[in-house]
Amino acid sequence: MANVVEQLKHLFMPKSVAVIGASRHPGKIGHEILRNLIEYGFEGKIYPINPTAEEILGLKVYPSILDVPDEVDLAVVSIPAHKVPHVLEECGEKGVKTTAIISSGFGEIGNVELEREVLDIARKYGIRILGPNIIGVVYTPSKLNASFGPRDVVKGNIAFLSQSGALGIALMGWTITEEIGLSAVVSLGNKIDIDDADLLEFFYEDENTRVITIYMEGLRDGRKFMKVAAKVTKKKPVIVLKSGRSERGAKAAASHTGSLAGADRIFDAAFKQSGVLRAITFEDMFDWARALATQPPVKMNEAVIITNGGGAGVMATDAAEEYGVNLLEPSPKLIETFRKYMPEFGSPRNPVDLTGQADAESYYGAVKAAFESEEVGAIIVLYCRTAVLDPMDMAKAVMDAVKDAKEEGYVKPIVVNLLGGEDTIKASKELNRKGIPSYPIPERAVKTLGAMIKWSKWAGYLK
Ligand code: ACO
Repeated sequence: MANVVEQLKHLFMPKSVAVIGASRHPGKIGHEILRNLIEYGFEGKIYPINPTAEEILGLKVYPSILDVPDEVDLAVVSIPAHKVPHVLEECGEKGVKTTAIISSGFGEIGNVELEREVLDIARKYGIRILGPNIIGVVYTPSKLNASFGPRDVVKGNIAFLSQSGALGIALMGWTITEEIGLSAVVSLGNKIDIDDADLLEFFYEDENTRVITIYMEGLRDGRKFMKVAAKVTKKKPVIVLKSGRSERGAKAAASHTGSLAGADRIFDAAFKQSGVLRAITFEDMFDWARALATQPPVKMNEAVIITNGGGAGVMATDAAEEYGVNLLEPSPKLIETFRKYMPEFGSPRNPVDLTGQADAESYYGAVKAAFESEEVGAIIVLYCRTAVLDPMDMAKAVMDAVKDAKEEGYVKPIVVNLLGGEDTIKASKELNRKGIPSYPIPERAVKTLGAMIKWSKWAGYLK
C-alpha cells in the first residue's frame, strides 16, 4: 500500500480539484462548495462537473470527469448517494487520487451495502475516500476550502478533525469569530476509508500543523488509533473531544454516524495510554490548542501568578491545585525583585499581587522579571479591569515584556487572563493575535497551563 502521507497530500495539496455535482443553483451544496473553492482563493485548477450545465460561477463545466483534459488529484462528490458508485468508477478510470464524498445516505441510515460497494470500487482503483456524509475539507496553507462551511477560515497551525459535519461547520464559524487560526478542517463522517489514524499520520509530518484537535464519536479501529496516537503525541499535542460519554449519548452517536462508541472508560484509558489530552468541552479543546500552538513546552512545573487583584489570584491558586499546576515558592532574592514593581502594601510572594494601583510599568517589570528568573518555569498573568490601567495598555505591557524577554533569549510559556467588560475582550483578542494565549476567566488560563504541563510531561520535556 502506498504511503498514507503521500496519498493524503493529494487531499490537502491538490494541484487540481473537480466538483462532481457542481450545481447551477446558489444555496445548493454543490454550488456553495464550488463558490468556497473559488472565493477562498484556491490557486490550482478547478473543474466543475455537471451533465446539464455549461458554465457555473465563470468556470467551464464538464459533463463527466472523463471529459476533463487534465489530471485530477481531488474529486469532491456532491450528488445523491445512489449515483456515487457510477461516478466513482469514472473517477477510477480517470485516475483520480482522492475523493471527498459529501453525500449522506450511507451507513448512518443502515445503507451499509452501498457503502461497501463504494469502498470496493475505491480499493479497485486505489482511490482514497474521505467520508461519506461530510461537509468537506479545508487546508489553509493551500488556500483550499472544499467545503460547504463558512468561507473565511483563519489561517493558523491547529488542525481540526470532526466526525460530525454540523459541529464542524458550527465550530468553523466560531473559530473565525474567536480568531483561532487553523491549518485544516477535516470532516470525517462515516470514515469508511480515511480515518483519524491516517490523518494523524499526515499531520505528524505536516510542518504547517502544531496541534491536532479531534471531535470524535467512535473509532472503527481503536488499536490502530492508539498506536499512531502514541507516536504522534510525542511530537505534537493531540486533543480529543470524545462525545457519547453517557449511555444515552452513546446511543445517539450510533444513530448519528453509525459509531459503536463502546464503554467510555475504555476510551479514557486508551487516550491516557497514548498521550492524548481529553477535553470535555469545545472551550477546553480550543483553549488548550491555542496555547499549545503558540507556546513552548513547559520544562519546569514551577509557575508564578502575577495579578493586580487578590481575588483573581486566590481563584487561580485554587485552580492551580486542581489542574496540576505547581506554584513556585519564590526565593528571597526573587521576592525582592518582585517587590520593586509594587507599592508597599503589595505582596511579592506567589501570587505576586501588584495591587489595584498597578500600572503598565508594574506589569512589564514583574512579567519581565519572571522571564529572567531561573526559578520560574511558567507565567500566569491576571488582570482585573481598573480605572487606573486601561486593558489595552496592560496587554501592550505584557506583549513588550514577552518580546523583550524573547530577544534576550528567555523563552517560557505564558498564559493570560483579562477579567472585565468589553474593552478587556478587545485587549484579550490583541494578545491572542500576537500569539499570547489570553482567556476571560482565571480558571481557563490555569486549566490550559495544566494541559500544557500534562503534554510536556508525556513528550519528555518535563520530568
Ligand atoms: N455528475 C455530475 N453532476 C450530476 C450528476 C452526475 N452524475 N448527477 C446529477 N448531477 C448534478 C445535478 O444536475 C445537480 O445540478 P443542478 O442543480 O445544476 O441541476 C447537481 O449535480 C446536484 O445534484 P442533485 O440531484 O440536485 O442533488 P442535491 O444537490 O439536491 O443533493 C447532495 C446532493 C447534497 C449530495 C444530497 O444528496 C445529500 O447527501 N445531502 C446531505 C449532505 C450533507 O449534509 N452532508 C454532510 C453531513 S453532516 C451535516 O449534517 C452538516
